Amino acid sequence: NPVGKEYKNYRFWPGSHKYTMEWQYDNWNPTNDDVLVASYPKTGTTWMTAIVKNIIYRDSAEKLEMTKSISFLYSYLEQGIPLKYEVMEKLPWKRKIWGTHLPAPLVNMEKLKKNGCKIIYMVRNPKDQAVSWFHFCQKDPFIKSMEGYSENWDEFFNGYISGKQANCAKEGEWYPDHILSWYPYRNDDNVMFMAYEDLKKNTAVEVKKLCDFLNVKRSHDEILSIVKETSFDQMQTEAYGLSKSYFFRKGRVGEWKRRFTVLQSEQMDEKIEEKFSGTDIRFTYV
Ligand code: A3P
Repeated sequence: NPVGKEYKNYRFWPGSHKYTMEWQYDNWNPTNDDVLVASYPKTGTTWMTAIVKNIIYRDSAEKLEMTKSISFLYSYLEQGIPLKYEVMEKLPWKRKIWGTHLPAPLVNMEKLKKNGCKIIYMVRNPKDQAVSWFHFCQKDPFIKSMEGYSENWDEFFNGYISGKQANCAKEGEWYPDHILSWYPYRNDDNVMFMAYEDLKKNTAVEVKKLCDFLNVKRSHDEILSIVKETSFDQMQTEAYGLSKSYFFRKGRVGEWKRRFTVLQSEQMDEKIEEKFSGTDIRFTYV
């Protein structure tokens, strides 16, 4: 695997470090004020993180400052160096917002449950996720050189659904396996599953649910402004540098239809059925 790193048989893209992952599992000790946005890449992580920041820090003059410091320190559990955890502890923000693309077995779920650390797990339909990932990889020379990646959509698709292009996954695994790793925790009090498509369709309703989950009181008007400030158009306009092109593309449900052939759609349906038939996970594709 030329660029990915391996840890406990899971493969990762550059930026994830096994020492940091290990340290995180053994020593990271979040409280019930901490919030962890967990997700597979390209499922709406950037959007959810912005919503959570807005819910918690919207009145605070420190909002921007906090956002900058935390992103500077790599709020992703698996990234950066273990020392960042000590630095984060010394920062004044009461409620820290973390992110992770780790599969659940690499997060100490028992400890987090005991501590009451809030976890939001984003789920997106795997067809839109695949298209989003395909475009994302093209922008990044490192990821582009990952095993199993191709600039040709048909080749990419075949490699992707057969787990040849593992990222945050074991050899042979792909996005559904990540969802399944988190699935057993979905009903825990400190965990909330959120679908990209539900958030897109009824943003205000879902933001209200998030406020309740995070124990933050927000008025109806405040919720409406959170929705506005974190809308795709608003966030894309405000983004700058690499993040502008990396994390904002279309922001829609159903874009997969422009890429997938009928056969590819059927192939994916079959794989999805195999993976999720024993669960209550059903995806929204339009
Ligand atoms: P598309 O490539 O389908 O447009 P992540 O943040 O996990 O990397 O996910 C990126 C995906 O979320 C991209 O999907 C991006 O356009 C979309 N996205 C980013 N901000 C969004 C927002 N405010 N509302 C809706 N979708 C958003």
